[in-house]
Amino acid sequence: MKNTQRILCALGLIFSVSSVWAAAVKVELADVEIDKSYEAAKRGAETVMALCMSCHSLKYIRYKHLMDIGYSEDEVNAVRGANDMEAPLMAMMPPAGAKAAFGMVPPDLSLMAKARVGGALYVYTLMAGYYTDENDQVDNHAMPGTKMPDVFGYASLKGADRQAAEQKIHDVASFLHWTQDPKEKERHELGKYVLGYLVLLSILAYLLKKAVWARIKGRTHPWPDKH
Ligand code: HEC
Repeated sequence: MKNTQRILCALGLIFSVSSVWAAAVKVELADVEIDKSYEAAKRGAETVMALCMSCHSLKYIRYKHLMDIGYSEDEVNAVRGANDMEAPLMAMMPPAGAKAAFGMVPPDLSLMAKARVGGALYVYTLMAGYYTDENDQVDNHAMPGTKMPDVFGYASLKGADRQAAEQKIHDVASFLHWTQDPKEKERHELGKYVLGYLVLLSILAYLLKKAVWARIKGRTHPWPDKH
């Protein structure tokens, strides 16, 4: 009896803690579709390098990897400046400076889409989540009180400007989808070949089975009849 009570107590505690936690991190994701094509990712890379990398690094991506999403060597040379082809994408702001400015080092973005519920859509929701509250303060629906400034000035944009920013944010999300798993498309392609091979193998096995059984059913089996 005591044990049962203890177990029930523990279960209750787990449920209440997890539901509080779930409520705390619940973000209503934006209702958009993220285009995962390399074209979109490449456009997003431009914005990330020009804007986000003043504060954020993407240390698991190297400049040469940009060629996988359609950059030519000349284009990579243009964006990498004095950095080596093999160099990882590092933030322009040194960590100490970021700490002084924001009280924290902005997190690395390479695996961010993997680390958050919603993936790339979370990134979109966050960047398009800035608004101006009743006290004229800019805040964010997805991350209330965030230390990250509204880099697109999204909260005050209207009409066509807002749409243009949303397109940029979309492409940034697409790029961050790619960075979290740069080999995804390659793996899917390989998967198609593997499936094709399996289908072919099944057809061959079926034809072989038919051929063998046709001989058995027609009593034309090769072994001698004992009777
Ligand atoms: C001026 C510096 C700065 C720039 C530029 C900047 N960020 Fe941030 N970012 C931050 C800081 C600081 C945080 C940490 C926020 C916090 O925890 O309150 C952050 C956090 C984030 C997070 C993590 C949010 C989470 O759930 O923990 C994402 C994703 C992000 N930034 C994406 C971007 C993208 C994409 C861009 C470019 C479009 C960008 N940031 C540009 C400073 C910056």
